[in-house]
Amino acid sequence: MRQVPVTNVRDFARFKQEHRKISIVTAYDAWSAHLVERSNVDAILVGDSAAMVMHGHRTTVPATLAMMAMHTAAVARVAGNKFVIADLPFLSYRNGVSSAIRAVGTLMRSGAHAVKLEGVDGHEDVIRQIVGSGVPVMGHVGLTPQSVNEFGGFRVQGREADDAEKIARQAHALEELGCFSLVLECIPAPLGARITRELTIPTIGIGAGPCTDGQVLVLQDLWGVAGDHAPRFVRRYIDGESMLTDALDRYDADVKGGRFPSAAESYS
Ligand code: KIV
Repeated sequence: MRQVPVTNVRDFARFKQEHRKISIVTAYDAWSAHLVERSNVDAILVGDSAAMVMHGHRTTVPATLAMMAMHTAAVARVAGNKFVIADLPFLSYRNGVSSAIRAVGTLMRSGAHAVKLEGVDGHEDVIRQIVGSGVPVMGHVGLTPQSVNEFGGFRVQGREADDAEKIARQAHALEELGCFSLVLECIPAPLGARITRELTIPTIGIGAGPCTDGQVLVLQDLWGVAGDHAPRFVRRYIDGESMLTDALDRYDADVKGGRFPSAAESYS
């Protein structure tokens, strides 16, 4: 049965109050956003993971504002009623408030309903100003991929007690700054549960255990088209890579065997 999805920012708070889980997937282009639009999934994140998934980079660091604006616009054109959140790319919110506000304006004019940014320390004023400008902000703590060079790789964060306390403190700070929700990435499940319990805004987990208020997954991971290596937190719902390459091989065989196109696929 088709359920009523999240359609605006206020639904996030309501879903938490009603103990209803929130589902989010990434999308970067119109054809995949169109499929998400036809599903029950609540919202779309135009993640800066686009730099890796769509552009073949090894990290999200090379994502640019122009790249994110292009992907956001493609998604927003077909997203229908889905709530669209766009990632502010690496350093775009670390160069002063006015530069950050210009970046936010670019993403919002591209069709986003909200922006997401990573971390909090050192850009509290920027977050305050974005929220105060009427733009919903989603926070992101734990494994914040834009800091991969500081972390020394894509590693679980918050295993040590002082690191866990730091992540919890950042989560509270983001709530106090007015974020409407918070991504918790790659942290131990008990820490994900604790932060979810302590905050009034919904937490959206990715590798943060089962107790968060919602989950987000990269669409290509979920569809099994993201290559052989998948992090532990990924669940592949289909083996998309086999299905799609099989279709290509059948097409190739039909072309080479003279079976495509048929008379019905030709004009008289
Ligand atoms: O860019 C992205 O896809 C993300 C999710 C992993 C949360 O930030």
